[in-house]
Amino acid sequence: MEKKNVCPWWMGYVLLNPLRKLSHKPEEILEPYLKPGMNAVDFGCAMGYFSLPMARMVGKEGTVYCFDIQQKMLSKLTTRASDQGLSKIIKPILINEGDTYHQYSGTIDFILLFAVAHEVGDQRKLFADLSVMMKPGALMLFAEPAGHVKQSGFEQSLSYAAMGGLEKAEERNINRSMSILLRKT
Ligand SMILES: C[S@@+](CC[C@H](N)C(=O)[O-])C[C@H]1O[C@@H](n2cnc3c(N)ncnc32)[C@H](O)[C@@H]1O
Repeated sequence: MEKKNVCPWWMGYVLLNPLRKLSHKPEEILEPYLKPGMNAVDFGCAMGYFSLPMARMVGKEGTVYCFDIQQKMLSKLTTRASDQGLSKIIKPILINEGDTYHQYSGTIDFILLFAVAHEVGDQRKLFADLSVMMKPGALMLFAEPAGHVKQSGFEQSLSYAAMGGLEKAEERNINRSMSILLRKT
């Protein structure tokens, strides 16, 4: 399996910079897909730039499962969720690359995979595992940073997504990103 560079934990603070809202407004990006009571996943959540707004959108009847391989990211996420009264909705989950997620099979309504796939060594497995978690018809918003990831790399990721049973639902236009909405067939 190819070893990829994982973003260092301190980058988590950079990703929380309020200036990011100029190009990535979480509510604008995610509101079309998240409804109260949903089970959502923020995969590669870092310190929760998107996770906390996602928690507000699914509300107290919903859950946001936040997966990451770095404990320092999840510790900061946990503190932020607590400070904002969202601890009951946000579930931080520390994983190792290579884990499987069978306990979530067929339970998830929406997955956010934002600026993560290029850090994952085995993307074929990544998309297959995420697809297993999703209910039939569930959506995934998949985005990669433009400039950092080449168009050919993004297309390769889409071919792995298709192998996992994820088809294109809609083009998305997100600043400084290559992005697409995928649906589980
Ligand atoms: C560039 S950051 C993006 C964070 C967040 N999605 C955002 O847009 O603010 C990538 C995150 O993915 C995590 N990550 C890298 N490889 C991973 C893997 N195999 N499984 C889960 N998380 C991973 C990193 O630890 C890091 O927190």
